[in-house]
Amino acid sequence: MYNKKKAIVLFGSPNENGYTATALNKLIESLKDQYDFSIINSYKLNIHACIDCKLCSKEHKCTFNDFKDIDTLIKNSELIVVASPVYNLSFPAPLKAIFDRMQIYFNSKTILKVNPIEKPKSIILILSYGTNDHNTVEFILKQLNPIMLLLNSRLIRKIIIKNTDLNPIIEDTILYQNDNNFIN
Ligand SMILES: Cc1cc2nc3c(=O)[nH]c(=O)nc-3n(C[C@H](O)[C@H](O)[C@H](O)COP(=O)(O)O)c2cc1C
Repeated sequence: MYNKKKAIVLFGSPNENGYTATALNKLIESLKDQYDFSIINSYKLNIHACIDCKLCSKEHKCTFNDFKDIDTLIKNSELIVVASPVYNLSFPAPLKAIFDRMQIYFNSKTILKVNPIEKPKSIILILSYGTNDHNTVEFILKQLNPIMLLLNSRLIRKIIIKNTDLNPIIEDTILYQNDNNFIN
């Protein structure tokens, strides 16, 4: 037996049996021998929105303490799975609030000059959306790219479930394998 690596899932759907959840369960099943998964259900957790109080630009602290568990899980993880539907070309509000709370990492890095996330990570994106609009993934990645940079991570796989309003189309693209080799 070997020690499994750690993975955190940032789950953005209110539907526990929806398209995102179904793809997520399949991914977890396929990776369960390699990773221990901790699932953050953003709708259940309902993390407080960032209020730009600027405390984290003065010291590595947040006004609210509801991000602590996520922070620890992120820091200890080798893999982050972002699993979300698309709402108005962005992430649903509870997941967006989690991303906004990562402003503490941004200020640590840029103002306090402390590297907030030492351990490099891989990211797998699971994205579900109703239309077949080819710009949607690009819009989402535009929003996710600065977050991935902050998290000392890179995208290794995209699982896209699009056109769910009519006839779901699944695209699974592996960008890197074994955390190192670029294959696509
Ligand atoms: C509030 C809301 C906003 C949405 N906005 C978009 C959108 O901008 N683009 C899109 O293609 N689908 C949009 N959808 C459709 C969802 O992304 C789609 O139904 C998705 O497959 C749901 O995933 P789930 O079953 O995992 O919750 C929206 C749905 C809701 C409820």
